Amino acid sequence: MVDTIKPEITESALDLVGNTPLLALDRLWPGPGRLLAKCEFLSPTHSVKDRSALFMIKNARKAGKLKPGGPVVEVTSGNQGCGLAFVCSVLGHPLTVTMSKGNSPQRAIMMRALGANLLLADQVDGQPGNVTISDVQAAEKAAMDIIEKTGSYYVDQFNNYDNCLSHEETTGPEIWRQTGHRVDAFVAAVGTSGTLTGVSRYLKSVKPDIHCVAVEPEGAQVIAGKQITNPLHLMQGSGYGRVQPLFEYEVVDESIAVSNEEAVKYRKLLGEKEGLFLGFTSGGNVAASIKLLQSGKLPKDAWVVTVLCDSGLKYPD
Ligand SMILES: Cc1ncc(COP(=O)(O)O)c(C=O)c1O
Repeated sequence: MVDTIKPEITESALDLVGNTPLLALDRLWPGPGRLLAKCEFLSPTHSVKDRSALFMIKNARKAGKLKPGGPVVEVTSGNQGCGLAFVCSVLGHPLTVTMSKGNSPQRAIMMRALGANLLLADQVDGQPGNVTISDVQAAEKAAMDIIEKTGSYYVDQFNNYDNCLSHEETTGPEIWRQTGHRVDAFVAAVGTSGTLTGVSRYLKSVKPDIHCVAVEPEGAQVIAGKQITNPLHLMQGSGYGRVQPLFEYEVVDESIAVSNEEAVKYRKLLGEKEGLFLGFTSGGNVAASIKLLQSGKLPKDAWVVTVLCDSGLKYPD
């Protein structure tokens, strides 16, 4: 007799990216309304940046900008580098990443474990755990030097539209499907703005009156048009103090500020009430979502979707 049971095999770790669960945070926010969150910490390198890594590398290969086995360079706060290290290791591209010394050492350990060559740039005016735009620019300069010498493919997450497309073509449609088309608002912290712009573009295309929100660290609210008074915030990977090239005002309705204390408070509550150990932008996203739910701007029974961006294991204590 022929066995008709089909094997259930995942062909490579690349197939583990995306289609993350949409989790109800009902213990943290029992209502009114509902707070739902995309579980991006479940991705192979435990962050939302695996999606953009996969899209940017696959599309560069498709367009012939990156040849099979060709070398790749990127500047990162860590999560994009981890995502690229994972994608490049599966597809066989040598990867060099430059990162500010101010980013967490846990990310450096992970990138190296995934086979990336890591170059750490000295901080200009930040401190360990607080990375400023000048610190990022120092890491960018180091990357440019390598590209000049080696001719490597430069991923350029801050200017690469495939970063947005990864969310416009995957995260956005997933949210629309998973909410059964009844999402009222989307809330996300802004690093490169790939997540916020991509998801908002998709959701606005299917539901023009959806409310899309940028989360900014208090004192670094450049999208809101305010002076920077606190560049040294805790929301690592976001809030770089400049309106990013991929940010689009046309698809974003407002910016909500979150203090360090609020990000820490909700990060802790995510652990204590929902059993999830996550990073600071996850805490910030939840804090901003709850402010929105309490604001009276949305219907009482509104569904707000946000992002649990990365694992708490990526940070020192
Ligand atoms: C922890 C964390 N949260 C949020 C973001 C923001 O994501 P995006 O670059 O899509 O705006 C990043 C980006 O690196 C990140 O590392």
